[in-house]
Amino acid sequence: MAAQKKLKMGMVGGGPGAFIGAIHRSAALMDGLIEITAGSFSSNPEKTRQAGEELMLDPSRVYSSYDEMIQKELALPESERIDIISIVTPNNVHFDPCKKALEAGFHVVLDKPMTLTYDEAKELYKIIKKSDKLFCLTHTYTGYPMIKQMKQMIAEGVIGEVRKVYVEYPQGWLHKLLEYENKQAEWRTDPARNGKAGCFGDIGTHAFNLAEYVSGIKVAKICADLDIKVAGRPIDDDGAVLMRFENNASGILTASQIDAGCENNLKIRVYGEKGGLEWMQEDNNTLRLRWSDRPDEIYRAGNGYLGSMANENTRTPAGHPEGYIEAFANIYRNFARSIYALRKGEEPKAEWLDFPGAEDGIRGMAFIENVLASSASDQKWTPFTVEY
Ligand SMILES: NC(=O)c1ccc[n+]([C@@H]2O[C@H](COP(=O)([O-])OP(=O)(O)OC[C@H]3O[C@@H](n4cnc5c(N)ncnc54)[C@H](O)[C@@H]3O)[C@@H](O)[C@H]2O)c1
Repeated sequence: MAAQKKLKMGMVGGGPGAFIGAIHRSAALMDGLIEITAGSFSSNPEKTRQAGEELMLDPSRVYSSYDEMIQKELALPESERIDIISIVTPNNVHFDPCKKALEAGFHVVLDKPMTLTYDEAKELYKIIKKSDKLFCLTHTYTGYPMIKQMKQMIAEGVIGEVRKVYVEYPQGWLHKLLEYENKQAEWRTDPARNGKAGCFGDIGTHAFNLAEYVSGIKVAKICADLDIKVAGRPIDDDGAVLMRFENNASGILTASQIDAGCENNLKIRVYGEKGGLEWMQEDNNTLRLRWSDRPDEIYRAGNGYLGSMANENTRTPAGHPEGYIEAFANIYRNFARSIYALRKGEEPKAEWLDFPGAEDGIRGMAFIENVLASSASDQKWTPFTVEY
């Protein structure tokens, strides 16, 4: 049998000084299933050239725009052409390259939130559903092995019916007006490039996605309170949302970028009729199971006693810590394994298909819409609506 070829990936964004592009590249390369072949790394062609040189790419595969990349790659024989386009640009440059890449027949990895506007998200959702290519939205935190373990234990009924979900994402890096000196802060606080929700578009969507992913239950209604704590900033940098899930479980979601001193201590706790499960990113290889009538149990990544979802997403033996980049790499590995399986005419394993996609994308954009509407209203609760 002929050896499988690595999947070739082209990147949009991730040029010199960018944050998440380099993390995507490390993650994509980690398991040897994908190689970086092409790119249009910046809106500035000179910076794109520089990035291509640093990554030692063939200069003929380094393009001055994503339009050029799509066009010229399509002109190559199928065996040489890129298979995947990874889009890691600010939110105003998500919809157009993603639409064009899918319509040209490439698989797409897109960073969150799905688009700049809800209207774009609705259109993109339809395009993804029509396409026979795979689409992945990198809600990174769903890639952690102990998050997958938590999801599996809840689905298996270990803690009983879910009654309460607490999810919090506190950051402190925007506790002062940083937008004039920091590249990442600059576009994130500009509604024209970021979208109309600030903190809640950037990290509130991650917390929301994690709450629905881990609990396995959708949010049905919300009551939101968003605020701008730093004077001169046009969009929210702090807030909280009360949530009611479809099974009537209650939830509290807080997200902030002005919690001075906080790094990225994302936490989620879920309590059911029999016990609770607790996880935090700062100790991401540990999952605590609480019981009402006996001592806590501690589950640790890399141990054989974990379920299939955690084991499929772990590379090192217990005690050799994995972290953020490995969680990202799990998403890429599952995505790549699913592409390989489909190519062979096989059904990908359920554990591989467990990467975030179109549904997560549209629900994230609906979250922004619903949260802003609820926060602006005097009504106590508003239904959580999603338009497709
Ligand atoms: N999943 C996560 O955990 C996570 C973390 C950080 C950022 N993000 C998301 O990733 C995206 C990028 O964020 P970032 O912090 O890396 O931003 P950044 O500003 O650091 O990098 C953006 C890059 O995109 C490039 N770019 C802009 N327009 C372009 C165009 N037309 N063609 C090609 N390149 C272009 C810029 O030159 C820059 O290199 C955002 O959507 C953000 O929400 C996700």
